[in-house]
Amino acid sequence: VEWTDFERTTISSIFASLDYNDVGPKALCRCLIVYPWTQRYFGAYGNLYNPAAIKSNPLIAAHGVKVMHGLDRAVKNMDDIKATYAELSVLHSEKLHVDRDNFRLLADCLTIVIAAKMGSAFTCEVQAALQKFVAVVVSALGRQYN
Ligand code: HEM
Repeated sequence: VEWTDFERTTISSIFASLDYNDVGPKALCRCLIVYPWTQRYFGAYGNLYNPAAIKSNPLIAAHGVKVMHGLDRAVKNMDDIKATYAELSVLHSEKLHVDRDNFRLLADCLTIVIAAKMGSAFTCEVQAALQKFVAVVVSALGRQYN
Protein backbone atom coordinates (compact mmCIF):
# COMPACT_ATOMS: atom_id res chain seq x y z
CA VAL A 1 0.00 0.00 0.00
CA GLU A 2 1.27 3.44 -0.93
CA TRP A 3 0.49 6.39 1.34
CA THR A 4 0.58 10.04 0.39
CA ASP A 5 2.10 12.58 2.77
CA PHE A 6 -1.39 13.89 3.42
CA GLU A 7 -2.64 10.42 4.37
CA ARG A 8 0.31 9.79 6.67
CA THR A 9 0.04 13.09 8.49
CA THR A 10 -3.74 12.84 8.71
CA ILE A 11 -3.67 9.36 10.24
CA SER A 12 -0.89 10.18 12.70
CA SER A 13 -2.50 13.41 13.78
CA ILE A 14 -5.96 11.88 14.21
CA PHE A 15 -4.62 9.09 16.41
CA ALA A 16 -2.33 11.45 18.33
CA SER A 17 -5.34 13.60 19.18
CA LEU A 18 -7.60 10.75 20.31
CA ASP A 19 -8.16 9.83 23.93
CA TYR A 20 -8.05 6.03 23.64
CA ASN A 21 -9.81 5.65 26.99
CA ASP A 22 -12.77 7.56 25.62
CA VAL A 23 -12.91 6.60 21.95
CA GLY A 24 -12.14 2.87 22.36
CA PRO A 25 -15.03 2.09 24.72
CA LYS A 26 -17.40 4.29 22.69
CA ALA A 27 -16.56 2.52 19.42
CA LEU A 28 -16.83 -0.97 20.89
CA CYS A 29 -20.11 -0.16 22.69
CA ARG A 30 -21.55 1.26 19.49
CA CYS A 31 -20.60 -1.90 17.62
CA LEU A 32 -22.19 -4.17 20.26
CA ILE A 33 -25.39 -2.09 20.36
CA VAL A 34 -25.81 -1.38 16.65
CA TYR A 35 -24.81 -4.90 15.56
CA PRO A 36 -26.00 -7.00 18.51
CA TRP A 37 -24.77 -10.30 17.07
CA THR A 38 -21.22 -9.12 17.76
CA GLN A 39 -22.03 -9.61 21.48
CA ARG A 40 -21.68 -13.36 21.08
CA TYR A 41 -17.88 -13.13 21.30
CA PHE A 42 -18.04 -11.40 24.66
CA GLY A 43 -20.05 -14.00 26.54
CA ALA A 44 -17.46 -14.03 29.31
CA TYR A 45 -17.89 -10.29 29.94
CA GLY A 46 -21.04 -10.55 32.04
CA ASN A 47 -24.03 -8.27 31.65
CA LEU A 48 -24.59 -7.01 28.09
CA TYR A 49 -28.36 -7.10 28.50
CA ASN A 50 -29.16 -3.64 27.13
CA PRO A 51 -27.36 -0.52 25.87
CA ALA A 52 -27.02 0.94 29.38
CA ALA A 53 -25.48 -2.31 30.66
CA ILE A 54 -23.06 -2.44 27.72
CA LYS A 55 -22.02 1.19 28.22
CA SER A 56 -21.35 0.70 31.92
CA ASN A 57 -19.58 -2.68 31.63
CA PRO A 58 -15.97 -2.14 32.74
CA LEU A 59 -14.68 -5.22 30.87
CA ILE A 60 -16.10 -3.87 27.61
CA ALA A 61 -14.54 -0.46 28.28
CA ALA A 62 -11.16 -2.05 29.00
CA HIS A 63 -11.37 -4.10 25.85
CA GLY A 64 -12.23 -1.00 23.81
CA VAL A 65 -9.02 0.60 25.06
CA LYS A 66 -7.08 -2.55 24.17
CA VAL A 67 -8.41 -2.43 20.60
CA MET A 68 -7.17 1.18 20.31
CA HIS A 69 -3.71 0.12 21.41
CA GLY A 70 -3.93 -2.60 18.76
CA LEU A 71 -4.74 0.06 16.15
CA ASP A 72 -1.90 2.19 17.41
CA ARG A 73 0.51 -0.50 16.24
CA ALA A 74 -0.85 -0.12 12.70
CA VAL A 75 -0.48 3.68 12.88
CA LYS A 76 3.17 3.23 13.86
CA ASN A 77 3.78 0.60 11.15
CA MET A 78 1.79 1.99 8.25
CA ASP A 79 4.20 0.49 5.73
CA ASP A 80 3.77 -3.04 7.00
CA ILE A 81 0.34 -3.42 8.52
CA LYS A 82 -0.05 -6.91 7.12
CA ALA A 83 2.96 -8.29 8.98
CA THR A 84 2.14 -6.23 12.06
CA TYR A 85 -1.23 -7.97 12.30
CA ALA A 86 -0.25 -11.49 11.28
CA GLU A 87 -0.46 -12.81 14.82
CA LEU A 88 -3.58 -10.84 15.72
CA SER A 89 -5.28 -12.19 12.60
CA VAL A 90 -4.47 -15.79 13.58
CA LEU A 91 -5.76 -15.10 17.10
CA HIS A 92 -9.10 -13.71 15.88
CA SER A 93 -9.58 -16.46 13.35
CA GLU A 94 -8.26 -19.64 14.91
CA LYS A 95 -8.65 -19.00 18.61
CA LEU A 96 -11.51 -16.50 18.92
CA HIS A 97 -13.41 -17.58 15.77
CA VAL A 98 -14.50 -14.00 15.15
CA ASP A 99 -16.24 -13.76 11.77
CA ARG A 100 -14.13 -11.44 9.63
CA ASP A 101 -17.14 -9.38 8.53
CA ASN A 102 -17.18 -7.96 12.04
CA PHE A 103 -13.88 -6.09 11.57
CA ARG A 104 -15.54 -3.75 9.13
CA LEU A 105 -18.46 -3.16 11.48
CA LEU A 106 -16.16 -2.12 14.31
CA ALA A 107 -14.10 0.01 11.92
CA ASP A 108 -17.28 1.80 10.79
CA CYS A 109 -18.29 2.46 14.40
CA LEU A 110 -14.85 3.85 15.15
CA THR A 111 -15.10 6.10 12.10
CA ILE A 112 -18.42 7.47 13.34
CA VAL A 113 -17.03 8.14 16.81
CA ILE A 114 -14.02 9.95 15.32
CA ALA A 115 -16.25 11.94 12.95
CA ALA A 116 -18.42 13.06 15.85
CA LYS A 117 -15.32 14.16 17.80
CA MET A 118 -13.77 16.03 14.90
CA GLY A 119 -16.91 17.80 13.73
CA SER A 120 -16.28 20.06 10.75
CA ALA A 121 -12.57 19.09 10.71
CA PHE A 122 -13.71 15.68 9.47
CA THR A 123 -13.63 16.75 5.83
CA CYS A 124 -14.13 14.43 2.85
CA GLU A 125 -10.37 14.29 2.40
CA VAL A 126 -9.83 13.34 6.04
CA GLN A 127 -12.54 10.70 5.83
CA ALA A 128 -10.95 9.29 2.67
CA ALA A 129 -7.58 8.95 4.41
CA LEU A 130 -9.13 7.33 7.48
CA GLN A 131 -11.26 5.02 5.34
CA LYS A 132 -8.18 3.85 3.46
CA PHE A 133 -6.35 3.21 6.72
CA VAL A 134 -9.18 1.20 8.29
CA ALA A 135 -9.66 -0.76 5.05
CA VAL A 136 -6.01 -1.83 5.19
CA VAL A 137 -6.41 -2.76 8.87
CA VAL A 138 -9.57 -4.78 8.16
CA SER A 139 -7.89 -6.56 5.27
CA ALA A 140 -4.77 -7.36 7.34
CA LEU A 141 -6.87 -8.72 10.21
CA GLY A 142 -8.77 -10.91 7.76
CA ARG A 143 -5.59 -12.12 6.17
CA GLN A 144 -5.17 -15.40 8.03
CA TYR A 145 -8.73 -16.50 7.30
CA ASN A 146 -9.42 -18.85 4.48
C1 HEM B 1 -8.86 -9.58 21.45
C2 HEM B 1 -7.61 -5.94 18.49
C3 HEM B 1 -11.82 -6.44 16.15
C4 HEM B 1 -13.23 -9.76 19.38
C5 HEM B 1 -8.16 -8.55 20.84
C6 HEM B 1 -6.88 -8.04 21.28
C7 HEM B 1 -6.54 -7.01 20.46
C8 HEM B 1 -7.60 -6.87 19.50
C9 HEM B 1 -5.27 -6.15 20.50
C10 HEM B 1 -6.05 -8.58 22.44
C11 HEM B 1 -5.18 -9.67 21.91
C12 HEM B 1 -4.35 -10.35 22.98
O1 HEM B 1 -4.83 -10.46 24.13
O2 HEM B 1 -3.23 -10.75 22.65
C13 HEM B 1 -8.63 -5.80 17.58
C14 HEM B 1 -8.63 -4.83 16.49
C15 HEM B 1 -9.82 -4.97 15.84
C16 HEM B 1 -10.55 -6.03 16.51
C17 HEM B 1 -7.51 -3.85 16.18
C18 HEM B 1 -10.37 -4.22 14.65
C19 HEM B 1 -10.38 -2.93 14.55
C20 HEM B 1 -12.58 -7.35 16.85
C21 HEM B 1 -13.98 -7.65 16.58
C22 HEM B 1 -14.38 -8.58 17.49
C23 HEM B 1 -13.23 -8.87 18.33
C24 HEM B 1 -14.79 -6.98 15.47
C25 HEM B 1 -15.70 -9.24 17.67
C26 HEM B 1 -16.85 -8.73 17.26
C27 HEM B 1 -12.16 -9.98 20.22
C28 HEM B 1 -12.23 -10.88 21.36
C29 HEM B 1 -10.97 -10.82 21.96
C30 HEM B 1 -10.16 -9.91 21.17
C31 HEM B 1 -13.45 -11.70 21.82
C32 HEM B 1 -10.52 -11.58 23.21
C33 HEM B 1 -10.94 -10.76 24.40
C34 HEM B 1 -10.51 -11.32 25.72
O3 HEM B 1 -9.58 -12.11 25.77
O4 HEM B 1 -11.12 -10.91 26.71
N1 HEM B 1 -8.58 -7.81 19.77
N2 HEM B 1 -9.80 -6.52 17.54
N3 HEM B 1 -12.15 -8.12 17.90
N4 HEM B 1 -10.92 -9.42 20.14
FE1 HEM B 1 -10.34 -8.07 18.78
